[in-house]
Amino acid sequence: MKKNLLRLMVVSFLLGTISFSSSSSSCVQKNGTVSGNNSGNTIKIGVYGDLSGPTSSFGQSTKNGVQLAVDEINAAGGVVGKKLEIVIEDDQGRPEQAKTVASKLVVQDKVQVLIGEATSTNSLAAAPVAQEAKIPMITHASTNEGVTQVGDYIFRVCFIDSFQGAVMAKFAAGSLKAKTAAVIGDVNSTYSKGLTEVFEQEFTKLGGKIVSKQFYTQNDPDFKGQLTTIRALNPDVIYIPGYYGQVGIIARQARELGMNMPLLGGDGWDSPEIWKLGGESLKNTYISNHYTSDNPAPEVQNFVKSYKAKYGAEPDSMAVLAFDAVNLLADAIKRAGSADSQKLRESLARTKEFPGVTGKITINDQRDAVKLAVVLELDPAKNGYTYKDTIYPGGMSPAANSASSR
Ligand code: PHE
Repeated sequence: MKKNLLRLMVVSFLLGTISFSSSSSSCVQKNGTVSGNNSGNTIKIGVYGDLSGPTSSFGQSTKNGVQLAVDEINAAGGVVGKKLEIVIEDDQGRPEQAKTVASKLVVQDKVQVLIGEATSTNSLAAAPVAQEAKIPMITHASTNEGVTQVGDYIFRVCFIDSFQGAVMAKFAAGSLKAKTAAVIGDVNSTYSKGLTEVFEQEFTKLGGKIVSKQFYTQNDPDFKGQLTTIRALNPDVIYIPGYYGQVGIIARQARELGMNMPLLGGDGWDSPEIWKLGGESLKNTYISNHYTSDNPAPEVQNFVKSYKAKYGAEPDSMAVLAFDAVNLLADAIKRAGSADSQKLRESLARTKEFPGVTGKITINDQRDAVKLAVVLELDPAKNGYTYKDTIYPGGMSPAANSASSR
């Protein structure tokens, strides 16, 4: 343990990464201890994400969502008499860097809690740092089961992939009446591999057949080889559990090859970038997602309005999950009476029916959020989505959630 901390400290000294604080006027006393809890007038939140790499849309939206929530909370006087302060780090979307910057935030900046990462692979790389230091980490968006299994200090405010993958398998077999499906996934992404497995299992259970499983990496410039193999098998649908950067191109190349069947995906598609990459090819495509901005519920519309006013853009699900993560965190700090890491851990674990913009959030024994999912159809004519369905996980009823769902 001691040796590890020393190593982390050395790493953090060698780091040339930029860190900035959202409230530079606030003074944070550094007391030199590693835990450093409650040492100043602010509660320090470390945020880490991809601000410059292949998934930078996720990091930018995270930053926006966090900032909006922090500004609102601080304007209302802060939490337990303290203002929230953000320290944000760019991990360039790389797992090793995610681990390095998480260490830097914990050891050097002495943050009291971590928010991040967006993607499961990067959260999995960084979570052991939080767990070892006993600093609560809340991932707002990482849906792979394994993330919270790292340990009892790791939480999430989003649903998990065994649910999200099953939602789309049911949608394929039920609403689209698909009998056959092919899957194309990212071989280096834990998220993508997990969803491939769940989709296959559930679709097969429902009587469907997976006719082909193809893989790519984030660096592949072209997906026509994999698509040509699938074309020969002519499946009813193709499930693509990847991120917007590759999915947009895959959709375009599929249509270029004359493949017009429905394409299905998950939350990883949701970025404004996908419209630029996929364009018209995104007709006849569907995803599972965390929320829809046209939900008339007042808490959704209020959020969308404030977000648009601040950033001039429609919030994607990454932004809203980041917003929910900070508000849920503030609520847990309030209930704990302080941001002391152990007390905070316990109060996060006791979160019940927290009214998030993405729906009511209850943290279960696995520190996962029990949440609804929505199915959306992509509409390239408006660069936006058409709402299709809301799906509830076992044990959660529509009535219990009526204010936030639709
Ligand atoms: N769920 C994705 C993952 O675990 C991340 C993601 C969430 C992407 C929400 C977009 C929107 O990797």
